[in-house]
Amino acid sequence: LSNGLAKTPPMGFSTWNQFGDQISEQLIIETIDTMASNGLRDAGFVFINLDDGWQRYPGNRSYHPGPIEADPVKFPKGIKYLSDYAHSKGFKFGIYNGPGQQTCAGYIGSEGHVEEDAATWASWGVDHLKYDSCCSEGPTAPQAEVETIFRNMSLALLATKRPIVFHACHCGWADIWKWAAHDGANQWRIGQDIPDDFNYPGYRDGYYFDVLEMLDRGRGLEKYSGPGHWNDYDMLIVGLNGNSTQLEGTGCSNVEYRSHFTMWCMVASPLLIGADVRTLSAYDLQTLTNKEVIAISQDPLGKVATVVHEDLTLQTQVYAKDMSDGSKAVAYLNRGTLTANITVDPFKDLHVWWKQYHVRDLWKHQDMGIFNFSNPYMVEVFAHEVKALRFTPIWS
Ligand code: GLA
Repeated sequence: LSNGLAKTPPMGFSTWNQFGDQISEQLIIETIDTMASNGLRDAGFVFINLDDGWQRYPGNRSYHPGPIEADPVKFPKGIKYLSDYAHSKGFKFGIYNGPGQQTCAGYIGSEGHVEEDAATWASWGVDHLKYDSCCSEGPTAPQAEVETIFRNMSLALLATKRPIVFHACHCGWADIWKWAAHDGANQWRIGQDIPDDFNYPGYRDGYYFDVLEMLDRGRGLEKYSGPGHWNDYDMLIVGLNGNSTQLEGTGCSNVEYRSHFTMWCMVASPLLIGADVRTLSAYDLQTLTNKEVIAISQDPLGKVATVVHEDLTLQTQVYAKDMSDGSKAVAYLNRGTLTANITVDPFKDLHVWWKQYHVRDLWKHQDMGIFNFSNPYMVEVFAHEVKALRFTPIWS
């Protein structure tokens, strides 16, 4: 199954990380207006996604016959009004539900109403669906069962004839990366909810993953991502500053948020802002609107960066990603707590035969000069910092 959508990783905003189910029409209108004027929309963040808690009813659907409805207190004008408003401002609109009787936050799910709900969302002008299995199927549910659930919704979405990006959310269980694209998914989470923390001491259990662990989790899964189908490392935590109503963690430094964003671009994860865009700091806004870094994420080749070099003692890593113009996006990541000097040997690490290459620093927005094998680019990287670079070969 394929809907032909999401040729590059979807970018936008999702309500969950900051607001949980405390969402409203007012919030969404203000989010749209803010993103239309502060550069986020123009940087590519076009999806405005309602996560869980927009639905009218908690509990069991059998008590509420008829089409699924929005909570009339939170959304007095209904969802189509919001989706029309989003479209009128140059955005796309997304919605959330789950396959069970209830969603993860206890709202009514789509069980027994799959085609009907898909048709309702299409009639509202929905462009993205996050369909989240978590409360009907646990980590041990057999793959075939989970697969059927997602496949059925895929088919229902395709039957509406409306282009709707499909996020099959299953918390990274059942090796979902191996089969979800085949069943029509454009993205799937590779883990459970990330904390608002770069390196969260509470998460050393092999079950939940912080920023660094999520990156490790993605190693080996690179080949499952590509145009139309993406490993999803979870929504962005940039700007949450420990104020999330949903996530664990105490927040990150400016530098850590920037590193997290850079790495999500490197690994071609969908990029959904999870913070309140109305109160983003100037620094975080600059982080999120760096077009040179976003270009890594949105490169049409759709490759995922791989680790090409690591130093376990210094806790440094180099990630590289092939770009469609023949250049390499290169990220020097310092996972440790001390400043480190990082260098790359293009011949050994990047497997290229470039005699010379340009290096551009994508955070400084500066050309750093011309380098070669005997004079590789070396740079000091602070604790938890990432240097985002682009190496372009010089062929003459
Ligand atoms: C799960 C997902 C979250 C969010 C909530 C909503 O926990 O992983 O991203 O969608 O459900 O209830």
